[in-house]
Amino acid sequence: MEAKIIDGNAIAKEVRTEWRLRAEYLTRLGVQPGLAVIIVGNNPASSIYVRNKAKACDETGIYSEIHEFLENASQNQVIERIQELNKDSKIHGILVQLPLPRHFEINKIIASIAVEKDADGFHLYNVGALVAGQTLFPPCTPSGVMKMLEKIGIVIEGRHAVVVGRSNIVGKPMALMLLEKSATVTICTSKTHNLMEHTVRADILVTAIGKPRIISADMVKSGATVIDVGINLMSDGKLTGDVDFNLVKKKAGYITPVPGGVGPMTITMLLCNTIKAAERFYAQISA
Ligand code: GUN
Repeated sequence: MEAKIIDGNAIAKEVRTEWRLRAEYLTRLGVQPGLAVIIVGNNPASSIYVRNKAKACDETGIYSEIHEFLENASQNQVIERIQELNKDSKIHGILVQLPLPRHFEINKIIASIAVEKDADGFHLYNVGALVAGQTLFPPCTPSGVMKMLEKIGIVIEGRHAVVVGRSNIVGKPMALMLLEKSATVTICTSKTHNLMEHTVRADILVTAIGKPRIISADMVKSGATVIDVGINLMSDGKLTGDVDFNLVKKKAGYITPVPGGVGPMTITMLLCNTIKAAERFYAQISA
C-alpha cells in the first residue's frame, strides 16, 4: 500500500488562514503584529529565506522589517540594533537569521533578544521553558511538525518516535515536543551505530540529519509516519530530503515530500509565534 503524502502547503495554508484572522483582530484593536528580521552577510540561501519570511508576513497581515548588516559588521553593532528593537513597540518578534559570520558568538546574539520577542524560540529561557513543558515560543520547525501530526490525526501518546539528528534548531526540541505528548523517544545522531536498528522500530520517524536519501525503505517500519526535515541541494540543482522518498512511500503509512512538506510549516509557525507575542503585548498594555 502506498503512503498518504502529507501536503505541507495545504496544511500551512489552513493554519495561516486561522492566524491571519487573529492578526486582523489585533490590528483592529490597535496592535498590528510586527516582526524584525536581522540578516548579516550575503549567504544566498539566507537571503531567500528572509525574503520569503517578509512575504509571508505581508500575506498574513504582519508588519515586517528587514535589518541588513554587512559580513564584516561587528557583533556589538548587531547587539545594539537588537536592543533598540527590544524597546520598539511596533516590533513583537525578533529573529536573527542563521548562520552568522564566523566572528559572531551566536549565544551572545540570541541572549540579547528580549525573551518575550524571541520568535524563533532560541533564547535559553525559551529552551528551558520547552524542557519544563511550559513552552512560550516553540522553535518553528519542530512545532510545524507537531502541527502537521495534529492536523492529520496521528496518535503520539504511547508510540515510539525516533528522531534522527540532534541540532538545537530541530532534533533536540523535536524530541522534547514528542516526549511532552507522551511518546517513547529515541534520539539518533550522525554517529549512531547501526542507525537502522533504531529507525525500524519507529511508529513516527523524523529525520533532520542533512544527508540526502540516507533513510532507505528497509530502515522504515511498515505503516510508519515518516517526516523528512532534511533539505539537501543536489548537484542537478534539485532539492531532496534525508529520506529516499520514492521507495519509502511504498512502505510508510504517511510521508512528507521535499519540497512541499515540512518547509512551508516552518515559516507558518514563525508567523504564529509573532502573532502570539503581539497578543501577549496587547494583554499587557490593556491590563
Ligand atoms: N537558519 C536555518 N533555520 C533557521 C531558523 O529556524 N531560524 C533562523 N533564525 N535561522 C535559521
